[in-house]
Amino acid sequence: MAIERTLSIIKPDATRRNLTGQINARFEDAGLRIVAQKRIQLTLEQAQGFYAVHNERAFFYDLCNFMISGQVVAQVLEGKDAIAKNREVMGATNPANADEGTIRKDFAESIEANSVHGSDALDTAAWEISYFFSQIEIVG
Ligand code: CMP
Repeated sequence: MAIERTLSIIKPDATRRNLTGQINARFEDAGLRIVAQKRIQLTLEQAQGFYAVHNERAFFYDLCNFMISGQVVAQVLEGKDAIAKNREVMGATNPANADEGTIRKDFAESIEANSVHGSDALDTAAWEISYFFSQIEIVG
């Protein structure tokens, strides 16, 4: 089991409902450490840059507009197998398919407003972390 870092975003549907603390407690209860965190308002250009991998998808326009509809909390989570652990704690992308007790099952409003984002692999985690944070902002 390797110590990894993964990029997490608490999305506008969750910050709007003041769920940041409850979601962070889920991460910490699962053994993930929040080693960097900031609350920000993304611009459309920043949201499009982050989700560029999806720019051919039908949901891209709506997704980017949703991500700028309110503030987000970007964070770096660190721990054993952090990428897989975070995905387990988040639950399936579509809350209709998410397991009981996961963040998306308990908090998500829809597949788009699904409360959290998490990196899906080591290489994407490294890129996504560097999109939001410089090395000096990450403690751990
Ligand atoms: P996220 O993990 O942030 O990565 C891309 C996001 O696109 C995803 O979560 C969903 O919120 C959003 N999305 C909207 N529609 C779809 C869809 N049909 N399939 C996958 N992701 C979707």
